[in-house]
Amino acid sequence: MSGDGPALLRRARCLSANTASIRLAVPADFPAIAAVERAAAQMFAGTHMDWAVDAPPTDPSWLAAAWGRGWLWVAAASGGRIAGFLMAAPLARDLFVQELSVHPDLHRQGIGTALLAQAAVAAQKAGLQGVALTTDRTLPWNAPFYARLGFILQDQPPPALRDRLAAESHAGMDPRQRCAMRLDLREAQQAVDEDGA
Ligand SMILES: CC(C)(COP(=O)(O)OP(=O)(O)OC[C@H]1O[C@@H](n2cnc3c(N)ncnc32)[C@H](O)[C@@H]1OP(=O)(O)O)[C@@H](O)C(=O)NCCC(=O)NCCS
Repeated sequence: MSGDGPALLRRARCLSANTASIRLAVPADFPAIAAVERAAAQMFAGTHMDWAVDAPPTDPSWLAAAWGRGWLWVAAASGGRIAGFLMAAPLARDLFVQELSVHPDLHRQGIGTALLAQAAVAAQKAGLQGVALTTDRTLPWNAPFYARLGFILQDQPPPALRDRLAAESHAGMDPRQRCAMRLDLREAQQAVDEDGA
């Protein structure tokens, strides 16, 4: 684990960001979630992921499925405005992050990290062993962002993550640009416990 390995779990101890608070989503949030996803996708303009700018937002039936299982969170900013969301699902023994977006107006204020921290704590409580995802290798708000939080690049992804990468490739994403990453929750917790000892 990198030196910043437990950073995500440490962050989970102070979730009350000044800018937003994290809560479970409700169906009334779905339109605002779609608007955040559309706005966040503008970040990809002018990059090799330019195609993502006009990609349709997550199908509401997916949001409903994640909501029904308790794996959909939103960041509510002042006035209740939805500033970001994270949608996840168990995959093998991990929690897989399917979508994470924060509105560009509120980027780089810790909201994305707070959403990930919330998901990591929920995964721990559910007895899952890690948090996993697939992302772009080079864009600074993708793999480098997760690496700073202790996610480890999976050179040889386990089968479930390999299948995800294969599905992305099949859907037209450039497999040379994609990667799988994973945070081992037991290792991260151990590092937090040792720090606090
Ligand atoms: C990824 C995302 C959710 C992060 O949200 P956020 O609220 O800005 O995240 P945080 O404030 O917790 O952390 C931001 C970190 O991301 C990285 N980052 C974000 N935007 C960046 C940019 N434009 N340039 C360089 N680094 C950037 C930095 O490491 C930054 O930390 P810093 O501000 O201390 O330098 C947000 O950038 C987003 O919605 N992106 C578009 C959708 C996306 O790519 N989702 C992830 C798909 S795998």
